[in-house]
Amino acid sequence: MAFFHHFLLLLVICSFTVESAELWTQSCNDNSITNSTQISSNIDALLVQLVSGTIKNGYITTSYGKSNYKVYGLSQCRADVSRTTCSTCILDAAKQIRQLCPNQAGASIWYDDCFLRYDTRKFAGQVDTTVGIYFYNVENVTDPDSFNKQLETLTGQISSEAVKPGNRGFGRGKIGWSKSEDIYGLVQCTRDLSQASCTQCLDTAVGNLRNFCEDKKGCRVLYNSCILRYELYSFF
Ligand SMILES: *[C@@H]1O[C@H](CO)[C@@H](O)[C@H](O)[C@H]1NC(C)=O
Ligand SMILES: *[C@@H]1O[C@H](CO)[C@@H](O)[C@H](O)[C@H]1NC(C)=O
Repeated sequence: MAFFHHFLLLLVICSFTVESAELWTQSCNDNSITNSTQISSNIDALLVQLVSGTIKNGYITTSYGKSNYKVYGLSQCRADVSRTTCSTCILDAAKQIRQLCPNQAGASIWYDDCFLRYDTRKFAGQVDTTVGIYFYNVENVTDPDSFNKQLETLTGQISSEAVKPGNRGFGRGKIGWSKSEDIYGLVQCTRDLSQASCTQCLDTAVGNLRNFCEDKKGCRVLYNSCILRYELYSFF
C-alpha cells in the first residue's frame, strides 16, 4: 500500500508495569552525524532545552544552532500525567535517545508517558506518519463484529475529544463491549499540530487498526505526530 513508506511490525506478548518511565521504542533516521561534532553538540544543547521546557510546561518545540548545523526538537508529556511523572520520563528520554541513536541527526523516542523527537529538518506543525510502529497483543477477540463496532465508536469519541480546544491533542475513554469487558482507548497528538492536522494523524492511526491490529485484544500505533492505544484493561 502506497501510504506506508516504512513500518516496523513488533509484537508485545505480555504487558508489564514498572515504577520508572516505560520506554516503548525508538526510531533513528538514516541521517548520519558521524562526521559532525557540531551537530552532535547542538543536539546535546537542544536536549537540555527540551527537558527544561517539558518539565516546566509539559510541552516544547525549539531549535538550537546555526545554518547547516541547526537542529529542531519537540518533546511533550502525555496530557494526563503528573509533573513528577513527566519529569522522570523526559529526563530518561533525553538520556536514552542519545544512547539508542548515537550517530543520527534525527531520532524519535516513545514512552508510555512522554515523547521526544529531534531532526535537522524543521518539522513542527507538519503531520508525519511516514514511520509507523505497531505493537499488538497476539491474542484475538472472540467476537470481532461487535468488538470492531465498539472500537470504532470509541476511537471516534476519543479522537473528537482530542481536537476540542483546550484538550491539548489528548483524548481517552472506555466503552462496554461484552457483558464483563470494556475497551479502553487513548489518543495523543503532538501539541504543535492544528486541529485539522491532529485529526488527519488520528484518522490514519484509526484506519491502520484494520491493517495491523485486526481483531487484536490490544494495540498501540505510534507515529511522530500522534499515538493511539487500546486495550481490554485499564492503562491510564
Ligand atoms: C559528512 O561528510 C560528507 C562527505 O565528506 C559530507 O558530504 C557531509 O556534508 C558531511 N556531513 C556533515 C553533517 O557535515
Ligand atoms: C489470530 O488470528 C489470526 C488471523 O486469523 C491468526 O493467524 C492467529 O494465529 C490468531 N492468533 C492466535 C493467538 O490465536
